[in-house]
Amino acid sequence: MVECAGRVEGKVAIVTGAGSTPGPGIGTGKATAVVLAREGASVLLVDLYPERAELTRQMIEEEGGKAAVFGADVTQAAACEAMVRAAVDAFGTVDILVNNIGLASLGTVVDTTEEVWDRAFDINLRTAFLASKYAVPVMAAGGGGAVVNVASISALRGDGTVAYSAAKGGLIAMTVDMAYSHGRQGIRVNAVAPGHITTPMVMSVSAPGARAEFMNTMRSEAGLLGTAGTGWDVGWAATFLASDEARWITGVTLPVESGVLSVTPLMMAPYLRAVPDPGE
Ligand SMILES: NC(=O)c1ccc[n+]([C@@H]2O[C@H](COP(=O)([O-])OP(=O)(O)OC[C@H]3O[C@@H](n4cnc5c(N)ncnc54)[C@H](O)[C@@H]3O)[C@@H](O)[C@H]2O)c1
Repeated sequence: MVECAGRVEGKVAIVTGAGSTPGPGIGTGKATAVVLAREGASVLLVDLYPERAELTRQMIEEEGGKAAVFGADVTQAAACEAMVRAAVDAFGTVDILVNNIGLASLGTVVDTTEEVWDRAFDINLRTAFLASKYAVPVMAAGGGGAVVNVASISALRGDGTVAYSAAKGGLIAMTVDMAYSHGRQGIRVNAVAPGHITTPMVMSVSAPGARAEFMNTMRSEAGLLGTAGTGWDVGWAATFLASDEARWITGVTLPVESGVLSVTPLMMAPYLRAVPDPGE
């Protein structure tokens, strides 16, 4: 249990994708919003499905935190402009933006359709571009702020998700460029790169049964710690990067992945042999 210490006391945050796909566990955006609120921020909870963000609001308010819901499709410029205005109207300014929306898609460069490619860039990259486009001027006018982009280890190593990987890679490049362009305005821009996080979204796309159980065990065992990652792990990392504790950190991508990027396929081999895949 991490102790809450008012890391973002009095700040105003926007979290996009602050709801969570229904199911057991917690999404990264929902967990980030709850941690930011526990650490003292007022949070605008943005989601395409406002009823999902409403559950996040209830959780925050039951704990004594402050939050408001804004239903929006963040792929649309007008919605992003209205989202930033809503944060200013509700809480006075914007200090923190967490660009959390994303959706993975499997496929190689050969079998990925143009539609899947375009959709991956809309969801994973355009949302962060548009939300930042309208939030950054408000942060700059207020003397500074922090943007945290939720990328993925898929952008840092191959895993057969070419459109998703390329879009998340674009998000990492955008992180560096925004850090360059807005540093002198007091705005820090960083990314987190989650690994195999067990969120309701991930569970909802796993077919039930022995194969899903095997995949879940694999997700835990793939990293150096041998334990499952949750939305909370991303939430704490994002909150650290958003807080003044990270005041001299900008332009970086922080992997949150139980050291999985340090594992060679050879190191995985004994485990893969020890656990047969019952689905094949
Ligand atoms: N779960 C993992 O293993 C994993 C790994 C690496 C990166 N990530 C990243 O973490 C982030 C969240 O993942 P999650 O598993 O918590 O997903 P999730 O689907 O549970 O949460 C994302 C939320 O975003 C909302 N959303 C989707 N499109 C939207 C839009 N156009 N406008 C507004 N809201 C929209 C959804 O309604 C949902 O509530 C994504 O960026 C994902 O790529 C997850």
